[in-house]
Amino acid sequence: MGGVTPDRDPAGSIELARFAVELATGAAAEVRRALAALSGGDMRTDAKSTATDLVTATDRASEQWLVERILTARPGDGVLGEEGADRAGSSGVRWVLDPIDGTVNFVLGLPAYAVSVAAEVDGIVVAGAVCNVASGELFRARLGGGAYLYDQPLTGPRSVPLSRAVIGTGFGYDASRRARQIAVVAELLPQVADIRRIGAASLDLCSVAAGRLDGYFEAGLNPWDYAAGALVAAEAGCVVTGLRGREPSTVMTVAAGTSCATELTTLLEVLGADDVL
Ligand code: IPD
Ligand code: CA
Repeated sequence: MGGVTPDRDPAGSIELARFAVELATGAAAEVRRALAALSGGDMRTDAKSTATDLVTATDRASEQWLVERILTARPGDGVLGEEGADRAGSSGVRWVLDPIDGTVNFVLGLPAYAVSVAAEVDGIVVAGAVCNVASGELFRARLGGGAYLYDQPLTGPRSVPLSRAVIGTGFGYDASRRARQIAVVAELLPQVADIRRIGAASLDLCSVAAGRLDGYFEAGLNPWDYAAGALVAAEAGCVVTGLRGREPSTVMTVAAGTSCATELTTLLEVLGADDVL
């Protein structure tokens, strides 16, 4: 992956990127196996933060599979996972895991859900892999090493102004937050070509990297939703940012092609898209 020799890679990002791919593709295979074992039977769901924020046994099993692999291969590493994994570690490396991003799509059988794996070194994301479970598509990136769909380099979206741009977004699970988010979208929609709500933030970010969306924004994401996808988008040459000069974060994550990024962030600031949480 990339042309960096190990001695020029003190953070070990080449090995972390390789392992991130192994983890994301391996967990995606586990999720596919679990789905096949259900063979059309009922998928039991539990509610988390709200009645519509769902988790299944497969989300939990995928996270457990990931954490076991990581701690067997690298016992000193830390982990943070959506379904509860939280371990500090001692090596300076922490894995940020979404065992199924797009759980509602998974439950419905809509083929847009992914395993997202990112590796941080001293708090900086240096490697990421996002595997679409249904299609098998693998997006991957290494800090300074480019972004790829399988082995095809990604270069971000076409060059269009905001008025021609198709923009992805997403909504949180809390009803009052969703009301504020859709008010922003109502103002935005007449000023762009169209809007998409795919339902998996990691795939939204990778879609911007792959030029399938011209831009994407969402308030309220958690690190496991955006850590890997944001690196894929950034390494594809996209602008990845928060609003008002901030870094991408839970408050706001924006990714867009260079042709419309400034127009998009300026408009989102005017609309107060970062004031919805
Ligand atoms: C959700 C998805 C969704 C986004 C939500 C996330 P989950 O993650 O990424 O697209 O709009 O903000 O919480 O719950 O399916 O892992
Ligand atoms: Ca999830």
